[in-house]
Amino acid sequence: MRIEIYHASKYGNGAKIAEELKHVLESRGQQVSVHHISDVGPKEVPLADLYVFGAPTRVGKPIGSMRRFVKKAALPQGARYALFATHADEVPDKKTGKMPTPQELDARRKNIPTLDAVLRDRGMVKVADKVFSVVMDEKKGSLKETMAGQLKDGWQKRAEEFADAILDAA
Ligand SMILES: Cc1cc2nc3c(=O)[nH]c(=O)nc-3n(C[C@H](O)[C@H](O)[C@H](O)COP(=O)(O)O)c2cc1C
Repeated sequence: MRIEIYHASKYGNGAKIAEELKHVLESRGQQVSVHHISDVGPKEVPLADLYVFGAPTRVGKPIGSMRRFVKKAALPQGARYALFATHADEVPDKKTGKMPTPQELDARRKNIPTLDAVLRDRGMVKVADKVFSVVMDEKKGSLKETMAGQLKDGWQKRAEEFADAILDAA
C-alpha cells in the first residue's frame, strides 16, 4: 500500500511517532511518506491507499492547523484513514490525589473524536486510532522545555501496535 502520514507536531513528539510508524510500516513492506502539514498544502495531498493524521492537543482538541488541514485535504471519496493524538500524560488531581478515571479522560480528550467527526462527515473511513502520552517534566527550565516533555516509556511498542492495527484493518 501507499501510505501518506501527515502530522502537526510542535515540539517533536508527534514527529518521532510519525517517523517510527513509517519505519515499522516500511518493515512490513509498505510504501510510506511523512510530512509536516506546514510543508504541504491540503490540496497537494496525493492519491494513496491510506492516510494517517497525527496532531498535538490544545485545550483538549487537535491543534487548529490540523483541524483546518483535514477539512480541506484533497482526499479521494471514501478514503481510509488512521488517527493518532499526543496528549499530556494523565497525572493525579492536585486536590484529591486521585488519577482520572477512563470516563474522565474520555471527556477531556477530544483530539481524535474531533478529527474523526470531520473526516467521517466527509465520507472517509477510519481503520485505527491511537493516543500517545507525553510526560511533562515540570523540573525543566523554560516553559518551552516543560511543554515539550518526552514520550512516555513504551511509545515505540504503541507505535508498532498502531501500525499492526492499521494493517490488520486495511
Ligand atoms: C497551549 C497548550 C495547551 C495544551 N493543552 C493540552 C490539553 O488540553 N490536553 C492535553 O492532553 N495536552 C495539552 N497540551 C500538551 C500537548 O498535548 C503536548 O504539548 C503535545 O502533544 C506535544 O506534541 P508535539 O511534541 O508533537 O508538539 C497543551 C500544550 C500547549 C502548548
